[in-house]
Amino acid sequence: MTKKIIAFGGSSSKNSINKKFATYTANLFQNTTAEIIDLNDFEMPLYSVDIEENGFPEEAQNFLDKINEADLLVVSLAEHNGAYTVAFKNILDWCSRIDGKVFQNKKMLLMATSPGARGGGFVLDMAKTRFPIHKADLVGTFSFPSFYDNFDDKKGITDETLKNDLLKIVKSINF
Ligand SMILES: Cc1cc2nc3c(=O)[nH]c(=O)nc-3n(C[C@H](O)[C@H](O)[C@H](O)COP(=O)(O)O)c2cc1C
Repeated sequence: MTKKIIAFGGSSSKNSINKKFATYTANLFQNTTAEIIDLNDFEMPLYSVDIEENGFPEEAQNFLDKINEADLLVVSLAEHNGAYTVAFKNILDWCSRIDGKVFQNKKMLLMATSPGARGGGFVLDMAKTRFPIHKADLVGTFSFPSFYDNFDDKKGITDETLKNDLLKIVKSINF
């Protein structure tokens, strides 16, 4: 059966560069199907223990169900003030209350990009430490710096070194 990739950007922005980058990367894998999910489809009230007393929003279970469908997760995190976006953290918090193993032992290529030279390095470092606790099987990590200088909507990655670095990681992932 054709293997399935679930990809998303860790952002709710309509023009998210991370969603774009996750989509581009998911499509580098051959002989697979890729489904790109949008965090806006999992919008929930801001997590609080008080709201949880009334039960879980169905979107939290829906997100976990999507993760469960994946053979590989391709994730690119947006960085807001050195950390996860509120949109992503809210989903993580709600889902973790249903099941701490949010990523369900799925293989994950974990990335981040930003317009800056550090390429979302802070949020990537945070997630590298944290996601395995939520049972992400990290099979590759990649920070893509200075998005607007190195990515073209039609051509994809324009910097040869960065392109080769990412292709090497993609080729190394078996699933
Ligand atoms: C509230 C806020 C905080 C930000 N903080 C950072 C930051 O800490 N590091 C960074 O590289 N970029 C930061 N940025 C710029 C984002 O990287 C940029 O908006 C990027 O497009 C976000 O990714 P997205 O397009 O996938 O949403 C910030 C942007 C916003 C709106």
